[in-house]
Amino acid sequence: MLILNKTARVFSNPSKRKIYEYLRSFNFHPGKVFLHKLVLGIETSCDDTAAAVVDETGNVLGEAIHSQTEVHLKTGGIIPPVAQQLHRENIQRIVQEALSVSKVSPSELSAIATTIKPGLALSLGVGLSFSLQLVDKFKKPFIPIHHMEAHALTIRLTNKVEFPFLVLLISGGHCLLALVRGVSDFLLLGKSLDIAPGDMLDKVARRLSLIKHPECSTMSGGKAIEHLAKQGNKLHFDFKPPMQRAKNCDFSFTGLQHIIDKTVMQKEKEEGIEKGQILSSAADIAAAVQHTTACHIAKRTHRAILFCKQKALLSQSNAVLVVSGGVASNLYIRKALEIVANATQCTLLCPPPKLCTDNGIMIA
Ligand code: KG4
Ligand code: ZN
Repeated sequence: MLILNKTARVFSNPSKRKIYEYLRSFNFHPGKVFLHKLVLGIETSCDDTAAAVVDETGNVLGEAIHSQTEVHLKTGGIIPPVAQQLHRENIQRIVQEALSVSKVSPSELSAIATTIKPGLALSLGVGLSFSLQLVDKFKKPFIPIHHMEAHALTIRLTNKVEFPFLVLLISGGHCLLALVRGVSDFLLLGKSLDIAPGDMLDKVARRLSLIKHPECSTMSGGKAIEHLAKQGNKLHFDFKPPMQRAKNCDFSFTGLQHIIDKTVMQKEKEEGIEKGQILSSAADIAAAVQHTTACHIAKRTHRAILFCKQKALLSQSNAVLVVSGGVASNLYIRKALEIVANATQCTLLCPPPKLCTDNGIMIA
């Protein structure tokens, strides 16, 4: 606990680089010979209880994850106390599993890293208090982790990416564009002014009752939209991309969601069906919403790249755009971003799908 308190004091200092220097200064000599320092990462910021052990060279020794998606799909969205309860029920097992798959005992760890923000307060609290118990029991240093920074840096596990690079994080809870200048040096270029794209796609999927669709019943909202969009015609509906005149790199998805809500209501009237039944035009709506979302995300990203190049914040010849988060697994949106990357001579990199979504590895 002493170590944690010390860490917390240093963390209140504006220079985060100092914290990392401080944490690196710990040098433990465990009984078993591990060539590299080992870090246990714990993630409970939203609806995944995840843990992993990673060594300082980025080698993943083992991981475990429990996803709550199935439960939240049934309740039509995440209910924070439900998420908290599920984290409580699973955290011990998941951390134990990550350690035993890694063949590492807690005493052999060099540090324990845990997401402390941003996220659902009730969910974050479970991971944090569990970690603090471990920290106290085994007298280990604690590394507080910013969830977004972890997402942004994950690409460096799989690809050799030099700083600075541009990162686009798009998921159910995140939507931001940032220039990554160093491990804890980020310049925020744009963010959603309201909800994240995954949240909007989840809401549209719920409004279209896609959970009742035989092909989509176990899929997240975004995945269901992507699946159904393949069978639809995007030109049957004309949803305009939001914020076309805004001269910045921010995003907005609430307006689009409301327009789609209105369209669905109108179509239900036309087709003479009740709310909760599946429209015959559901696939066309899915294709159009996916297309508009892709256009909006691609346009804002294009703007950010041009800005960074103009201000010499990114290399002219060797710029890298990293895209991560659950929505980054959408191939249509990726294609739109590929077009932007090609047009601006950028290299587009996406972590493998497993590392795009929340996980313990990125925290470790
Ligand atoms: O990163 P993630 O697992 O969790 C957080 O939100 O932090 O992302 C989940 C989000 C959900 O909103 C889900 O609907 C969306 O990512 N998603 C997708 C796809 N797969 C998951 N959105 C669009 N296309 C997909 N294929
Ligand atoms: Zn996340």
